[in-house]
Amino acid sequence: MISDDDLISLATNARSWAHAPYSNFSVGAALLSSDGRTFTGCNVENSTYGLSMCAERVAIFKAISEGASEILRVAVVTDHEHIAPPCGCCRQMIWEFCSDKTEVILANLSGDVRKYRIQDLLPEAFDSRYLESVR
Ligand code: THU
Repeated sequence: MISDDDLISLATNARSWAHAPYSNFSVGAALLSSDGRTFTGCNVENSTYGLSMCAERVAIFKAISEGASEILRVAVVTDHEHIAPPCGCCRQMIWEFCSDKTEVILANLSGDVRKYRIQDLLPEAFDSRYLESVR
């Protein structure tokens, strides 16, 4: 099983592909799926701004579109002195594919690392359970 440090390295490498000429804020992500595969992503911005996509969701879309179904761990790397957490949209998207134990590992290029459970980053999450009664 890949270590947290290796997942951070994958995210750091992916960050180098970020297309972030408008914000100058490059983000890399790497996730481990329950089938043992890893998927990476970087943020991809667009001149229309609104089309820009976060690194975490790029990695998730790659994973799900290639048959992965569950995220065990996801690492997110930025170059901010205060480790940057995932945005709300990405927390919700991680939640969609998380397990009870899914960990979100945040790191910066200085080597600072913080680890969270997705439940703590997104308490009281909306999910498919609330749709069951209306089906
Ligand atoms: N960004 C991410 O890639 N992930 C996040 O969770 C937060 C924000 C990107 C989006 C945009 O390209 C840049 O960071 C500045 O918001």
